[in-house]
Amino acid sequence: MPAVLFSSRFLFFFTTLPILVSIALYRLDTFDPAHHTADSLVYSNASIPPLINDKFLSGAEFIVVGLLSSPEDIAYHKDSGLIYTGCVDGWVKRVKVTESVNESVVEDWVNTGGRPLGIAFGIHGEVIVADANKGLLNISGDGKKTELLTDEAEGVRFKLTDAVAVSDNGVLYFTDASYKYSLHQFSFDILEGKPHGRLMSFDPTTRVTRVLLRDLYFANGVSMSPDQTHLIFCETPMRRCSKYYINGGRVEVFIHGLPGYPDNIRYDGDGHYWIAMPSGVTTLWKLSMKYPFLRKITAIAAKYGYEPMFMEDAGVLQVDLDGNPIAYYHDQKLSHITTGVKIGNYLYCGSLLQSHIIRLDLLKYPAQNKKI
Ligand SMILES: *[C@@H]1O[C@H](CO)[C@@H](O)[C@H](O)[C@H]1NC(C)=O
Ligand SMILES: *[C@@H]1O[C@H](CO)[C@@H](O)[C@H](O)[C@H]1NC(C)=O
Ligand SMILES: *[C@@H]1O[C@H](CO)[C@@H](O)[C@H](O)[C@H]1NC(C)=O
Repeated sequence: MPAVLFSSRFLFFFTTLPILVSIALYRLDTFDPAHHTADSLVYSNASIPPLINDKFLSGAEFIVVGLLSSPEDIAYHKDSGLIYTGCVDGWVKRVKVTESVNESVVEDWVNTGGRPLGIAFGIHGEVIVADANKGLLNISGDGKKTELLTDEAEGVRFKLTDAVAVSDNGVLYFTDASYKYSLHQFSFDILEGKPHGRLMSFDPTTRVTRVLLRDLYFANGVSMSPDQTHLIFCETPMRRCSKYYINGGRVEVFIHGLPGYPDNIRYDGDGHYWIAMPSGVTTLWKLSMKYPFLRKITAIAAKYGYEPMFMEDAGVLQVDLDGNPIAYYHDQKLSHITTGVKIGNYLYCGSLLQSHIIRLDLLKYPAQNKKI
C-alpha cells in the first residue's frame, strides 16, 4: 500500500474529519426523538395467528399495471362493481373489477388537487375522501362537485388527513396522522416517535368537527364496528389497534404486538377485519424503536436525501371482531401494502409504492396451519 494512506493528513481527511462533522451534525440537529419505554413495543410478537401464507407474491395477480400511481386505499362500491382508489397524482380513479385480471379497466374519476388517501362511501351516495394535503372532502356521487368538509379542529390544522369511516347515521370518523408533519415527511413523524395524531368526527348535520382522541402515535386506519358501537383505529409505530367506544369514549386495546406496522383497517362485512401492514418488524426497526439516537441518525440521513423507511415483509392480517388474529398473508419480498379489502374470494391490496392493485385468491392460496 502507498505510504500516503497512512499519513496523518490522510487520517484527518478520511477518518477524523468525517467523525467530527458527524458529531457536529448530530449535536446541532434539533430533531429530538422520544424514548419509547414499553419493552412490549420492541419485542412483543403477541399477534401471530395460527394460519399463515408467507408466499403472498407467488399467488398474487397485478391489476391495471402501470395505470395507478401509488393507490393507497381502496373502497369497493358493490352496486357498480367499481373499486375507488386514491393516487399520488391527485386522482381518485375507478377500476372495474372483473374475474380476469387482464380485462380490468381504469377510469380517471375526480382529481382532488391534493393527495387522496382514505376513501369511504357516504350514506347519500357521495364519496368521502381523507386527503392528506387538503383535509376531509365530500365528492358528490356524480363526481361533479368536491367540497371541503373540514381541515382543522380546536384551532389546529390537519397536516396528514389519513383515513375515514362512515357510520350508519352518516357521521364521519377520521384520523389526522400528524399535525406536525405532512405526508412527504411522514417518516420524520415516526422517527420522532411523539404523538401528533388525532381521531375525530365530523357530523354533517351540525358541521361540527370534534376531537375524540388526541396524542395518538401516527393515527392511521379507522373502521366502524358492524354493531356501530365502536371504532377500531391503528397507531402505526405502536404496532397496535385500539377500540374507541362512541358512547362514553372508553378506549381499549383491540390488538397489540402486531407482526408489522399497521396502516389501514377494513371490515369485510363478514365477521373479520383486515389490517394492512406496509412493513414487517425488521431488526433495524426493533433497534430504532429501542434507541432514539439511531432514529436521530436516520432522520439526519433522511434530511440529506437517504430513504429512511426500510420496508420489507408487508402483508395483511385477518382478525375477528374481538381482535383475535386468524390468518396472515405476507411475503418477505413484499413492501408498502397499505390496505386490504376482501371482495368475494379475493383480497385486493393498495400500495404506497406500486403502480397497480394487487389481489390474491384466498381460496386458491389460503393461509395454512404451519404447525401441522
Ligand atoms: C415470539 O418471540 C419469542 C422470543 O423471541 C419466540 O421464542 C417465539 O417463538 C415467538 N413466537 C412466535 C409465534 O413467533
Ligand atoms: C386474458 O387472459 C386470458 C387467460 O390468459 C385469455 O384467455 C384472454 O383472452 C385474455 N383477455 C384479454 C382481453 O386479453
Ligand atoms: C356531500 O355533498 C352532497 C351534495 O353534493 C350532499 O348531498 C351530501 O349530504 C354531502 N355529504 C356530507 C357528508 O356532507
